[in-house]
Amino acid sequence: VNDLLFPLFLTLGDNKKVEVSSMPGICRFSLDLLLEEINECNNLGIKAFDLFPQYEESKKDKFASESWNEEGMYINAIREIKRNFPEICLMTDVAMDPYSSDGHDGLVQNGKIANDETLEILGKMSLAQAKAGADILGPSDMMDGRVGFIRNILDTNGYSETSIMSYTAKYASAFYGPFRDALDSAPKFGDKKTYQMNPANSREAIIEAELDASEGADFLMVKPALAYLDIIKLLKDNFTLPIAAYNVSGEYAMIKAAAQNGWLDGTKAMNESLLSIKRAGADIILTYFAKEFAQNLKV
Ligand code: PBG
Repeated sequence: VNDLLFPLFLTLGDNKKVEVSSMPGICRFSLDLLLEEINECNNLGIKAFDLFPQYEESKKDKFASESWNEEGMYINAIREIKRNFPEICLMTDVAMDPYSSDGHDGLVQNGKIANDETLEILGKMSLAQAKAGADILGPSDMMDGRVGFIRNILDTNGYSETSIMSYTAKYASAFYGPFRDALDSAPKFGDKKTYQMNPANSREAIIEAELDASEGADFLMVKPALAYLDIIKLLKDNFTLPIAAYNVSGEYAMIKAAAQNGWLDGTKAMNESLLSIKRAGADIILTYFAKEFAQNLKV
């Protein structure tokens, strides 16, 4: 359980807890109920969380302006979570997609992703998250140069102790489908192949990891996990930074769906998948199974 990091979905309102239909057992919570969920997980021994916001369309715009609104839902939730649970480790998400009317992780200009213009926006949201008390920032956007850019903004503003877990090798994957349902964040046009990696390419992961390490990343992440165990091993064997793996929404949904149909033993399949991700070399696993896994250990 100590190696697990639990992703959580935040939604606006009070007393709201809505299950994501493609992720049985995983809910979007309003802040009040999210605090209760964190408390429960904390009692089960889960100490680290990654928070993702779900925004309604009316809050989205081209520039993801809501992402650095210090009074907005997400930044406020970070502050409140850390005020209630100062001892937990809170990771945040740095990317434009939950706030973007285009549904892309970067700024769209003339039908293309504008890398360097996006960095300015990512910098603003990173600073707002760090100010609110985030312990680890997770740039999931995949723009080139963003780790160094964010590191510099954090350091020059007095947040040298805020860590960065870089999505180092994030592949353009079909396994993100349920997550995009959870956040209503699917791209409005095109795909993410111009900024996420080609699943056929393993050597590029080494280039990306070298860049991230030199730009100041504190952790290197591989995503998805199960179809990319070789990449986890590759980075573990070649780098000294801690390696994280993201056992993504589609990997969770597959096991849940099969288990619901009685086609396999869900608990055994969960344990075997998590074990295989550890075996491949992950020091940290981001997984929607975190709570269930922790609960099973208690009974
Ligand atoms: C986007 C983001 C995605 C996930 C985390 N951050 C989806 C995407 O790249 O479209 C996926 C996580 C999951 O599937 O569990 N910034």
